[in-house]
Amino acid sequence: MTTIQQVLAERFDRALAKVYGPELAGADPLLRRSDHADFQSNIALSLKKRTGDNPRDGAAKIAQALDSADLCDRVEVSGPGFINLHLKASFVADVVGQLGADPRLGVALAARPETVVIDYSSPNIAKELHAGHLRSTVIGDALARTLEAVGHRVVRQNHLGDWGTPFGMLIEHLLDLGEGVGDKGVADLNEFYRAAREKFDGSPDFAERARRRVVLLQGGDAPTLELWQRLVDESKRTFRAVYDRLGITMRDGDAAGESLFNSRLEPTVRELTDKGLAVESEGAICVFPPGFKGKEGKPVPLIIRKQDGGYGYATTDLAAIRYRLHDLGATRVIYVVGAPQAQHLTMVYKTAELAGWLVPPARAEHVAFGSVLGEDGKMLKSRTGESVKLMELLQEGDDRALALVREKNAERGEGDEPLSEGELAAAAHAVAIAAIKYADLSADRVKDYVFSWARMLATIGNTGPYLQYAHARNRSILRKAAAQGLSLEAAHITVEAPEERALALALLSFGGAVHDVVASLEPHRLCTYLYDLASTYSTFYAKCPVLKAEPAARASRLALVALTARVLAQGLGLLGIEAPERM
Ligand code: ARG
Repeated sequence: MTTIQQVLAERFDRALAKVYGPELAGADPLLRRSDHADFQSNIALSLKKRTGDNPRDGAAKIAQALDSADLCDRVEVSGPGFINLHLKASFVADVVGQLGADPRLGVALAARPETVVIDYSSPNIAKELHAGHLRSTVIGDALARTLEAVGHRVVRQNHLGDWGTPFGMLIEHLLDLGEGVGDKGVADLNEFYRAAREKFDGSPDFAERARRRVVLLQGGDAPTLELWQRLVDESKRTFRAVYDRLGITMRDGDAAGESLFNSRLEPTVRELTDKGLAVESEGAICVFPPGFKGKEGKPVPLIIRKQDGGYGYATTDLAAIRYRLHDLGATRVIYVVGAPQAQHLTMVYKTAELAGWLVPPARAEHVAFGSVLGEDGKMLKSRTGESVKLMELLQEGDDRALALVREKNAERGEGDEPLSEGELAAAAHAVAIAAIKYADLSADRVKDYVFSWARMLATIGNTGPYLQYAHARNRSILRKAAAQGLSLEAAHITVEAPEERALALALLSFGGAVHDVVASLEPHRLCTYLYDLASTYSTFYAKCPVLKAEPAARASRLALVALTARVLAQGLGLLGIEAPERM
């Protein structure tokens, strides 16, 4: 389908050619929705340098030349040189009609599809996922779904922390527990890790065994690797359980943990040394990417081989970025990792640039995020002071959401069948997931946010459950209409009332909102859009009778209701949130 913006852009193009000649053709008219008009163009300002006209004069000339009689009721120049467009109702009705016939709902496919690697979730083995991992998992998954929806090839990478010195103590502890108990002992991973750590700290004997075990592991000793594998498999099983329950699209095959890069570490260091990028410093091998100064202006190193010859997190990340660019063929590499790792990642990108691996148009981006805080404003902790386990958090969400949907279920109007117990449980789960994900996604992601069940589960305000209920109410109207034998198919849409116009224009902005997320990697932009749409819809519904309207208006309004439901469901889907039919 063609969008309003495309139609208008073409007219601006012709107007510019008329006023200034063909050189300015193709300039972006910078159309924005505005409170003062349906759309506002800032083109006269943006072309000021090239046209030599002051923006107000330029705007007047362009507005004068704009062939828009069939599209606009009014075109006027305002402020310092904006061009305000008031669209004709017939034009809006036309395009919104096309939207209804478009299975993509106006979400254009990317002009240049890319291979995009998204590194997200990436927890550490033998430690259970906790609330701190929630953000990477939820944000990364929403981005993966959204980029895929516009036609990019998304390669998910779960950069699991599955290698390193902690495995010495973990394996020795596993051996101490003996064959058979193993599976049971590993089931509570946090407890398993804690017990191993306690022995390591308390017993020099055990610590020594652990150190020897690390050497065996790194040397590729087969029985040791087998034990290591058991720990890894067990951890992956618990991660998978969380992903399934949370509705996360990360699969087993997306696991690309640190251990995957073992054989690439030495060659990576060699290549960087050969290229003159890595140098010896205090017995270690380091890269000093320019521009990173620590205390007293001393350059900050990226240590790629430690004094003892071992490789660390940075080496693995360098091998991984090289693999993502060269082997996976990515032109966009996205790291959904907490804000504290910003400097580490920037140093990795810089090194990859200098090594000639990261070459434009390829680019690497850090999708940073803040912390999840408890209602006391401190890092989210359980009552016993430990980090909160995700599984327990999810269970609590289900329980609380069940109470909520039960309450709503009791308030049903006449002719509205209550939900069965099974339907209630399913709805409650969907609500819980929506509450958790939406609270995470709707906030500006670099800021911290407070984890508050009361706020997240509220059915009014900018929350996931609010949007789900808005969608379910739409679906219920459509069911009623169907029960009355009304057709919802291909109605001719008219936009007469201002509320109808506002709703139509909101629906038509869906594609733009999705592409905003693709460009900015900020899912909250889609949340804001969906919330605005739902609010615009509720004003429409309050002002414009639907089922009680005259047949022509009724058919048109039902079509708008149906479109709203589709956009809400599709938009929530991109965020990884379900939109139940009834709740
Ligand atoms: N496992 C790491 C952590 O828990 C996150 C890994 C992020 N990805 C990466 N390529 N460094 O902090």
